[in-house]
Amino acid sequence: MVFGTDYYPEHWPEDRWPTDFRLMREAGLDTIRIAEFAWSLIEPREGIFDFDWLDRVMSLAVSHSMKVVLCTPTAAPPKWLMDKHPEIYQKDEFGHVRGFGSRRHYCFNSEIFREYSRKIISEMAKHYSGHPNIIAWQLDNEFGCHNTVRCYCEDCSSAFSKWLKKKYINIDNLNEKLGMAFWGQHYPSFESVILPAHTTCDNKAFGMNAHNPGLYLDFCRFSSDSVYDYSAMQVDVLRAHGIDVPITHNFMGSFFDLDYYKLQDQFEFISWDCYPNIAHGPFSTLSEVSYNHDKMRGYKNKKFWVMEHCSGQNGWNYMHETPNPGEIRLWTYQSVAHGADGIIYFRWRPCLFGTEQYWHGILDHDGIPRKRYKEIKATGAELRKLEEIIEGSEIVSDVCIINSFDNEWSHTYQKHSENFNYNRILYTVHNAITDLGINCDVVDMNVDLTNYKLAVLPAYNISSEADAVKLSKFINEGGNVVITFRSGNRDEYNRINGLTIPGYFRDICGIDVINYDAVGDHKRKVTSVAGPLEADTWCDIIDGKDSTVMGEYLDAFYRGTPFMTRNSAPGGSVYYIGAHLDRDGYNRIFRQITLETDVTRCPFGTVKGVETVTRTDFSSTYIFVMNHLDTPAYISLDKEYMEILGEKNISEVLRLGPYGVAVLTDKV
Ligand code: GLA
Ligand code: GLA
Repeated sequence: MVFGTDYYPEHWPEDRWPTDFRLMREAGLDTIRIAEFAWSLIEPREGIFDFDWLDRVMSLAVSHSMKVVLCTPTAAPPKWLMDKHPEIYQKDEFGHVRGFGSRRHYCFNSEIFREYSRKIISEMAKHYSGHPNIIAWQLDNEFGCHNTVRCYCEDCSSAFSKWLKKKYINIDNLNEKLGMAFWGQHYPSFESVILPAHTTCDNKAFGMNAHNPGLYLDFCRFSSDSVYDYSAMQVDVLRAHGIDVPITHNFMGSFFDLDYYKLQDQFEFISWDCYPNIAHGPFSTLSEVSYNHDKMRGYKNKKFWVMEHCSGQNGWNYMHETPNPGEIRLWTYQSVAHGADGIIYFRWRPCLFGTEQYWHGILDHDGIPRKRYKEIKATGAELRKLEEIIEGSEIVSDVCIINSFDNEWSHTYQKHSENFNYNRILYTVHNAITDLGINCDVVDMNVDLTNYKLAVLPAYNISSEADAVKLSKFINEGGNVVITFRSGNRDEYNRINGLTIPGYFRDICGIDVINYDAVGDHKRKVTSVAGPLEADTWCDIIDGKDSTVMGEYLDAFYRGTPFMTRNSAPGGSVYYIGAHLDRDGYNRIFRQITLETDVTRCPFGTVKGVETVTRTDFSSTYIFVMNHLDTPAYISLDKEYMEILGEKNISEVLRLGPYGVAVLTDKV
């Protein structure tokens, strides 16, 4: 397990560095991540490279036995470069230059920028190749941060034309597949195809997106592919210069413009940046963060690192709340429970200048170790002991949620009803399942379904016959599937496919959706196997045919018709949920579904606000029990357990203090 901090030596006088390294080591921190914004220090003028300062940092790393994650510094192209080649800047959808003054001010399709990137990365790789303390390289920093995946400059325009030409071969084909007959938008050539920028009809304030949805979806894919190519170039340069340690990149839970299922294949492991206290809403750590951890694990189906782990109050122009005592420890355990095997806290010390002066770290501005330092030090010591015991254990899940960037992009552009939010639907379903003490993977359709008992496809709209064939095979072999509203209705060109809904999934669901109601915020009462519930956002009106009705509408002209059905095949069952519920509603429905499908869950009952995640090494299980509440929690146990952190046996009732954590295993 890697346990470290994000360090910016360039922000501090050099005579402070030895103190920093000493304090880090005393806290048990063994790794630093450095240099992701240091281009202007490494190449202060074109072709003049200065590694002296970085060499002195590396020497301190060596003398303090500190491991290093070294970054390519391309997230912050220097001013001399931008002045010489202003065509590198991105342009927004209004054609305005997104200029200098922050970071990420470059277009992924700029050949000039790629050339300068190659140069600095080559120099760094030549200089540091084989350095014994470097355990990994991070590319750039958070590709796509600040809405930078999609750019509307001239370079992107010509790259998009080429991308489309490769895909559609001839322009008539594009016009036909994307439906350019609508509003007479036929393009005479690939070169004439526009980037979907600002038009007469766009009005963000009213949520109006008027572009051809197929062209827009292709633009999303193209933009994501552009980042992919730029990233692949960086990997190639590093490998060509003998870098043989793992290469990674720091993903984000809240970025949706970049297809991480594709991008992940360039990296030996993926990492992400986790800031629980800027997630939204009550129990945010339990909802978005828990979901994001599972999503990150699912990109590679592998353990991951948290490359930036929140270690204090955050903020740019104003600050969010300070973590309560015990919360940094809780968040750390939450990461480990979900599969993190690297924890790097952001950041070592808050800066005295610049945009992020308010973004706190392990130390305070005055450089003095206080509460957060002590908490992290104690957590690290505890983790090392835990690590010896849980080493080799995995998160094994009977349930997976199928996620898709095509669907994210399609649903976000034309979102069906006013408050439809694909990501929120996914994490509400995820939370409803994990609230039952059930592990849940978040994966894409390429996953090997045979590992699961239950696959859940919320709003899986862009779909193909191959998806239905894959699901049928899974069901025939005993698998179970849940499909929800707004599934099976569009093709790969983002066109409505014209099939009776749910399209290719109609046979496995055994139903027809014969009408629907985009109810938005209006509530619709329903009955269900789990008692009365309320739906909103969307209501499908269903002809249940021969399927079993599991719930009906009580409101509107469709009262008495099914909102939820089950179609039992010889192998497994397919459940269709036609209306959006809240977390509690889904929770009650999934309690029933997971019982019927024999899904493994935590052997003792769950408590609201307390998260459980089970890791297993196939001879023992380790149940992480995490209290996200600021009040004590009492959990009734089914039997006596050994509690690893406190090293004592616990029977009957586990008491957790505010933000308390326990790791339970079978008593030895
Ligand atoms: C207007 C236009 C039509 C159509 C409808 C629905 O009435 O004249 O072409 O766009 O709105 O949007
Ligand atoms: C992101 C970035 C960091 C820093 C933090 C805090 O995660 O990767 O460089 O900006 O946010 O804002």
